[in-house]
Amino acid sequence: MDFNLTEEHKMIRDAARDFAQTELLPGVIERDEIQQFPDELVKKMGALGFMGVMVDPKYGGSGMDAISYVLIMEELSKIDASASVIVSVNNSLVCYGIEAFGTESQKEKYLTKLATGEFVGAFCLSEPEAGSDATSQKTTAIDKGDHYVLNGTKNWITNGGRADVYLVMAQTDKDKGSHGINAFIIEKGMDGFHVGPKENKLGIRGSDTHTLQFNDVKVPKENRIGDDGFGFRFAMKTLSGGRIGIASQALGIAQGAYELALKYSNERKAFGKEISKHQAIAFKLADMYTEISAARHLVMKAAWDKDQGNNYDVSSAVAKLYASKVAMEHTVEAVQIHGGNGFVKDYHVERLMRDAKITQIYEGTSEIQKIVISRSILRD
Ligand code: CAA
Ligand code: FAD
Repeated sequence: MDFNLTEEHKMIRDAARDFAQTELLPGVIERDEIQQFPDELVKKMGALGFMGVMVDPKYGGSGMDAISYVLIMEELSKIDASASVIVSVNNSLVCYGIEAFGTESQKEKYLTKLATGEFVGAFCLSEPEAGSDATSQKTTAIDKGDHYVLNGTKNWITNGGRADVYLVMAQTDKDKGSHGINAFIIEKGMDGFHVGPKENKLGIRGSDTHTLQFNDVKVPKENRIGDDGFGFRFAMKTLSGGRIGIASQALGIAQGAYELALKYSNERKAFGKEISKHQAIAFKLADMYTEISAARHLVMKAAWDKDQGNNYDVSSAVAKLYASKVAMEHTVEAVQIHGGNGFVKDYHVERLMRDAKITQIYEGTSEIQKIVISRSILRD
């Protein structure tokens, strides 16, 4: 593994850093406060190529590698994890899912618009009774010859109220268990498809999370992704890449909090010296630096595995498990280093702490990552 970034990687990272500072930072506290989806910023991220980072340029994407993707995700997440989850879902779940497993006509119809940010995508696996236990899908899709009829409820759907294209998993044959699940492309506005109210969340409040209802939605057969029964494996394969996105989001949140804590501790004085000169604070910074560096290596390793064509089911789970733990623990420490100021919104660290928590829950909880990792090591 080469630890040097190429000149192109550095340029992409710097472009994302610049965008985050100049465009995301100014309104981030307000968007969090009023739970505002960043519509205009999504368009701008589309124009910069951030909505289809790894998509082939022939479908409107930027044609970059997974290393570039995690560099962009880290920089965006340092400032605004709500914006970065929109990017992550669009890139690693929706664009990747269609590009890797969709038909040519699905790619032409949907991917070209998703990759440029003209469309926003959503990925709909979770249900009220099928979260971690994702094979227990209750949403049904009944085969009617040239179309399916979809009924059921999805919950917790990121981009749920804003998306144009929804990838929806549903059970077509209960007797076949996970092999009876299919994935479908559903368009906004299809008859019988309703978006429920927005969730009022602890963190990533600028992102948009909704319950979705499907009542006899008629889905053309050409909207199924892959062969009959491929839907659960489609979801799992796609989520392996998604977990790289969320791992890099967690990394960015941790790095953002660390940078703020470092700066603050060099400015704030107590007992006649900067608080960074008190060993208790200096050691916190040392722990942050060490563990964030370790998280970055794991995130890069997972991205590198993807770029090399290696299997990344386990390296992505390892990266997400560890980076999300680091994000949670060190955002709490960043608040502590800020003292009372850490508890108010102007200093940003309280938001990063609230945003960190979700990285241990979505795209597979930490316990689920441990299932993926332990099954692999015990099998091998
Ligand atoms: N690639 C290909 N196939 C896979 C696979 C993978 N990575 N993982 C599992 N499969 C296959 C298995 O081989 C199995 O097939 P066979 O029966 O032919 O052997 C089938 O899928 C069922 O797998 P399991 O028996 O392992 O299923 P399980 O019920 O034990 O569950 C699990 C496995 C890993 C726990 C899975 O249910 C899981 O990942 N749960 C978490 C769900 C999740 O991550 N949800 C995220 C929603 S999206 C989201 O959250 C987005 C966001 O917030 C922004
Ligand atoms: P449960 O599965 O009920 O788990 C509850 C607890 O039990 C967890 O701690 C879990 O780890 C533990 N647990 C469960 N099973 C086991 C086990 N076998 N062994 C050990 N511990 C176990 N989903 C989508 O499909 N698309 C999205 O875009 C999306 N976005 C989301 C955005 C937000 C803000 C949130 C909160 C969730 C989102 N999700 C999305 C859903 C998310 O993926 C699920 O919340 C997550 O998979 C956990 O499912 P659950 O909430 O049903 O928890």
